Amino acid sequence: MHKSLILAAGAGNAWALKPNNEPIQPIEPAQIAEPAKVELGKQLFFDPRLSKSGVISCNSCHNLSTGGSDNLPTSVGHNWQQGPINSPTVLNSSMNVAQFWDGRAKDLQEQAGGPIANPKEMAFSHQQAVAVVSSIPQYREAIQKTYKTDKVTIDAITDAIAEFEKTLATPNSRFDRWLKGDQQALTQTEQDGYQLFKETGCVACHNGPAAGGNSFQKMGQVEAYKTENPAQGVAGLTGKDVDRFKFKVPTLRNVELTYPYFHDGAYWKLEEAVDVMARLQLGRQLSADEIGKIVAFLKTLTGEQPSFALPALPPSAADTPLPQPFH
Ligand code: HEC
Ligand code: HEC
Repeated sequence: MHKSLILAAGAGNAWALKPNNEPIQPIEPAQIAEPAKVELGKQLFFDPRLSKSGVISCNSCHNLSTGGSDNLPTSVGHNWQQGPINSPTVLNSSMNVAQFWDGRAKDLQEQAGGPIANPKEMAFSHQQAVAVVSSIPQYREAIQKTYKTDKVTIDAITDAIAEFEKTLATPNSRFDRWLKGDQQALTQTEQDGYQLFKETGCVACHNGPAAGGNSFQKMGQVEAYKTENPAQGVAGLTGKDVDRFKFKVPTLRNVELTYPYFHDGAYWKLEEAVDVMARLQLGRQLSADEIGKIVAFLKTLTGEQPSFALPALPPSAADTPLPQPFH
């Protein structure tokens, strides 16, 4: 594993400065195939009535005003419970090879069912979520129209949310404009940072349009990562020792917005995260100057944030189950 990494890292030097040969490719704007599903999913993403308390929506922990994450080490869930792990961004999440740090959901639809029923997150059940949604006439009608069914199902709810999430791409970052040929889009320092990012070997794991999200890698390739967080990564699913501490490589798109970093949210500064990565993954001690350049490059990966009118949510009906914020 480690050997092939070094090889891949070494190849970084050979990449010519042509968009098609770069290890990171531009993100394209989202194509909206089914606008009605997207609109419904947008409402549901912002609707706190999908939680037991009536307070927590998907947007609570994946705040689209703050890079699709909550900027907390680990999330706060139902009854102010401490979540087990850092909340990854939902921006560009459709590009992930699978969802969650350990990849236990195969796609966005399967993922969306998780938090609704997680007692530490939204603390609802799928039946309760269906009961709430089907009690609200406008939701019932929207589902009838878009899914051609009289019965509200959890599948329709999670499918609509997933269709909305697929629109949360962040194109036109300065880095992407540079990749597409605009030489002025990056300063010399930022270009040097990108060069260092390649030469140091970061691109072995952070590559593709999302600069990550496409493989599972061990945290602590060269040197072990020290953390109080009990998460075991993929080994939590497979029980295999080789999978211990293997996590989905996070996307580095919009990374300047999604602090604190790593699965345990232990590092608040991008400089620190880059230093940890270089030492633990690659056995490299970077100078403050080199780290500064890589950070300057990473900040050029911030793209256009999702922008739309706040969705107005339909009112509850007389028979809508009531929220239980203090149970
Ligand atoms: C209480 C906070 C909280 C709420 C509410 C919440 N999430 Fe999450 N979300 C998390 C955390 C924490 C993770 C990472 C969990 C893990 O990997 O084990 C996560 C993971 C994800 C991921 C996977 C991203 C990736 O890179 O793997 C997606 C997508 C997502 N959530 C979407 C949603 C949607 C849609 C909703 C609403 C139905 C929602 N979340 C509600 C905290 C939350
Ligand atoms: C061997 C694969 C690998 C290499 C090489 C690698 N990374 Fe990572 N990177 C990961 C993994 C896995 C994580 C998640 C680790 C965790 O959360 O415990 C990560 C996380 C990060 C994060 C935190 C992102 C977040 O949202 O939490 C940053 C920043 C980062 N890497 C930058 C870099 C830089 C810069 C380099 C080169 C110096 C680098 N990485 C090299 C695999 C790698």
